[in-house]
Amino acid sequence: MNQSSAYDPFAGTAGYYACHRHDYPVQIAQIIASAFGLDGRGRLLDAGCGTGKLTFLLKPLFEQAVGVDRSAAMLAEAERQAKRQGIAGISWVLGTAEDAGADLGKFRLVSCGDAFHWMDREKALTTWHGLLEQRGGLAVVGAGGGSGSGPEPWQVAMWEVIHRHLGPRRHNAEWQERTTKRHEEVIRESGLFRLISVGHVEHTGVRDFDSVLGFLYSTSFCNKGLLGDNVPRFEEDLHRSLLRAEPSDRFAEPLRAEYILAQRAQGAGRTAPTHLRRRARLAYTQLARPTTLSPSGSMLILKPCGSDISARRFRMSAPMAASARCGSPRRAR
Ligand SMILES: C[S@@+](CC[C@H](N)C(=O)[O-])C[C@H]1O[C@@H](n2cnc3c(N)ncnc32)[C@H](O)[C@@H]1O
Repeated sequence: MNQSSAYDPFAGTAGYYACHRHDYPVQIAQIIASAFGLDGRGRLLDAGCGTGKLTFLLKPLFEQAVGVDRSAAMLAEAERQAKRQGIAGISWVLGTAEDAGADLGKFRLVSCGDAFHWMDREKALTTWHGLLEQRGGLAVVGAGGGSGSGPEPWQVAMWEVIHRHLGPRRHNAEWQERTTKRHEEVIRESGLFRLISVGHVEHTGVRDFDSVLGFLYSTSFCNKGLLGDNVPRFEEDLHRSLLRAEPSDRFAEPLRAEYILAQRAQGAGRTAPTHLRRRARLAYTQLARPTTLSPSGSMLILKPCGSDISARRFRMSAPMAASARCGSPRRAR
């Protein structure tokens, strides 16, 4: 496998990432388990695993898991978190997910959380197709609300501060230009996977100021490396602006954890035969409405799988608490 590339947009963010990113809602694991009939057997490949948030959530559904990431610092933090949480049975592999080799063995599921947009997606799909068991699955998910760029007054204030200190252009956003095509389209067009379900889970994230700051330091667009010597001035400005926008020091944001589930198309090779591409296209057009939330807070999932549309209900849990688990990220003020 390729080793990590020289430039790492997440350099210096791993500790903040593990502590201050919102966790995936547990419903995501329930949805994946139910869609692929996961029962604790088999192996998981978590591509772009970072500090292991998604790996840890999905690990109970498998015997073994492998987390692949191109950042050594992220993997070191993942290993540390696994030890801290007493989670065994996970190997951490340094390298790009597109180049994951056959030496890693076969997998029942490939998951990719908030990382697919960083990858050469077509190449990654070809690699993963080769690594999956015959009827293996693919789960591309996003925790939702990664950029804190919603319309809440505190979010608007936060971005004003970021622009004041780092300029009007979002840093490390080249992927936004590269990935104009939606993930599900890329998956469908590959002809290597058959889309099963696309949906989302709505939840709420709540942070205090330290957690907002920790979140920003976990990102590729506003970390300490980018701010350099400006860190103290940035922190003061952010503190003043956020508390003016939200004096309660309670920063709530609606989150939308999204998932795309697909099954490995059988017999498809590097270039998928026309009939598989046609079948994949058909499955895509048959996708029903996305997941909807009923007013009672339960979630109705429409899982169109060819003509076999099944509906399942999951209970929504209480809104997520702030994820300030690791102390204050602030410098002495
Ligand atoms: C936003 S983080 C997501 C981490 C984790 N999956 C999660 O859900 O918390 C993106 C991760 O993808 C990794 N990454 C980016 N491009 C990659 C590639 N081509 N191969 C492997 N990892 C990659 C980065 O190093 C980073 O750890």
